[in-house]
Amino acid sequence: MELSNSNIVVTGAGSGIGAALCRRFAEEGPRAISLVDLDAVALERSLQELAQVFPQVKVTSHQVDVSKESEVIALIHQVTETSGTIDLFCGNAGIGTALGLDAPNQVWQSTLDINLMAHVYAARALMPAWLDRGRGYYLLTASAAGLLTNLGDAPYSVSKHGAVALAEWMSITYGDRGIGVSCLCPQGVRTPLLFPEMKTSVAPDSDTASAPEDAVALAVVRAQRILEPSEVAESVVAALATEQFLILPHEEVAAYEQARASNRERWLSAMRRLQAQISGG
Ligand SMILES: NC(=O)c1ccc[n+]([C@@H]2O[C@H](COP(=O)([O-])OP(=O)(O)OC[C@H]3O[C@@H](n4cnc5c(N)ncnc54)[C@H](O)[C@@H]3O)[C@@H](O)[C@H]2O)c1
Repeated sequence: MELSNSNIVVTGAGSGIGAALCRRFAEEGPRAISLVDLDAVALERSLQELAQVFPQVKVTSHQVDVSKESEVIALIHQVTETSGTIDLFCGNAGIGTALGLDAPNQVWQSTLDINLMAHVYAARALMPAWLDRGRGYYLLTASAAGLLTNLGDAPYSVSKHGAVALAEWMSITYGDRGIGVSCLCPQGVRTPLLFPEMKTSVAPDSDTASAPEDAVALAVVRAQRILEPSEVAESVVAALATEQFLILPHEEVAAYEQARASNRERWLSAMRRLQAQISGG
């Protein structure tokens, strides 16, 4: 995947990993970067930062709720009209809940809509033009939670497993027709999703991330090696250069995934022990 002179869209660009991806992509001399987020304040901040540091790159901002199919379709039409066919679409926006089975149905639904269905909507809208020209690239930000699990967050784990499955399905189905797919699966990254106290503006959906159960889920994830968003962005650029499917900024996740696959019973019991430790049980 050639980033120079490309037309890139990044969702969740107002914060964390998405904002870092935009900054790192800008260094590669793309034709245009479209920043997408629900949070208008965060979006504007990212846009200003980027425009200041990289005045030569065409940057635009789009306030879009990626969980609404009509908004995603309109975004893709608008970007295509103003900057040409999209070369790289980074479906990166995501939310966590820090809740279990008892998460209200509306929280389950919005987590599945944002973390999974948003990718279906975007890929479905992009694919006809990409297949016609035999080229296009979808970077899907899932999580190590989509390969393993996320203690303390059932909706997140389920949605991210679905997202990994979708990325694999797209790679298998379209990989021989010129379509590239990469699936980004980090563990802990220093962003407001993991450290809500970093939040400088409040998105409409963010109230679910401050439930008292947060303590358990956050303690689990924070116990891991925490990377900076810029380190994740560096891994992404390296992986896109070779069109690698699975992007693991925390390399240790590969060994965890192998351990899980080779002996599921042992892996589950180790995870139960970890859960008990964290819950003080
Ligand atoms: N931070 C981590 O430890 C970590 C680890 C693994 C995976 N991830 C994944 O990385 C991605 C980016 O998360 P982050 O850590 O940078 O978090 P973040 O909270 O810093 O950024 C997420 C951005 O997505 C936006 N967003 C949320 N819902 C949206 C919607 N419906 N429409 C449009 N935008 C929306 C938010 O406003 C926010 O700006 C997510 O998919 C997350 O699941 C994060």
